[in-house]
Amino acid sequence: MKTYSFRNDHKIPSLGLGTWKAEPGEIYQTIRTAIELGYRHFDCAFIYGNEKEIGAALNDAIMVGEVNRQELFITSKLWNTHHRAEDVIIAIKQSLKLLGLDYLDLYLMHWPVAQKKDCPFPQSADDLISLKDIPLDSTWQGMEECVMAGLVKNIGVSNFSIKKLKKIQKGANIKIAMNQVELHPLLQQKELLEFCNKEKIVLTAYSPLGSRDRHPSMKAADEPNMFEIPEIVSIANDHKCSPAQVLIAWAINRGTVVIPKSTNKDRLKQNLDASEIILSDSDMHTISSLDRRYRYVKGEFFCLEGSSYIVSKLWDE
Ligand code: A2P
Repeated sequence: MKTYSFRNDHKIPSLGLGTWKAEPGEIYQTIRTAIELGYRHFDCAFIYGNEKEIGAALNDAIMVGEVNRQELFITSKLWNTHHRAEDVIIAIKQSLKLLGLDYLDLYLMHWPVAQKKDCPFPQSADDLISLKDIPLDSTWQGMEECVMAGLVKNIGVSNFSIKKLKKIQKGANIKIAMNQVELHPLLQQKELLEFCNKEKIVLTAYSPLGSRDRHPSMKAADEPNMFEIPEIVSIANDHKCSPAQVLIAWAINRGTVVIPKSTNKDRLKQNLDASEIILSDSDMHTISSLDRRYRYVKGEFFCLEGSSYIVSKLWDE
């Protein structure tokens, strides 16, 4: 499988397994199956609520000799409740404990949003803390301390705009290795990709298949189904593969990491195989024209009335 290199020459596999929305009751078996099929990169987060089961599966696979720790690439993410610099190390240790690991390959600041400790999901403006009170660069210092303490090899961010990346990068002692954002043919974020290439920040595409298993409260009634876009279907027919495989191949062919989620064995295999599909220039050109700047994950759940968070400022657009 193709890999990308960070500034420090550490490598990340181009395809990883997304674990958002994978229920604790099914994820253990999913991880064991994925490792058997050849997955080595797992994208996790504290807030997904399934790190304990993922850790059990990873450690069982290591114990029986299917894989060793050095072959695995494990990401976790800092939740918004631990943005104070001194809390970051507490949060990463919590994730490491759940995962049963002594280091992560990558730790990401999950959102450019700060919340009070006792409310993981904000219900009102009171649960949120303004970025004026906990600036993103102070959280970044906490992230850097995790590297210095040997708890993680690479650090990055998620859901960051160019403006916010610049703000951190300027004063960073350890530069941003990764920005993980929503990316797919309907939201191509070409300016962001160009900026990240220039800054040697690797981009990861989340929701590459449109995250159709999101909770209904997070979905717009008229949201588009990328599996049905005629151009995607036509390219899939040409390559004798599925539309989902075209979406995954597109992400890798344009130079980003991609983390499709599946808990189904056949689709896990299909998605892994997609990492080897080469799309033609003409396929890439056709897909390039599909951009509609359409977000499936709009972030409106943080933009509560009376708080300093508003959707346009969240994405700086
Ligand atoms: P399942 O877990 O049952 O396979 P995203 O990665 O964008 O969050 O999308 C995840 C959604 O896409 C899940 O509903 C997942 O269902 C589904 N999915 C994953 N792989 C495929 C595939 N190859 N074909 C169709 N649907 C897929």
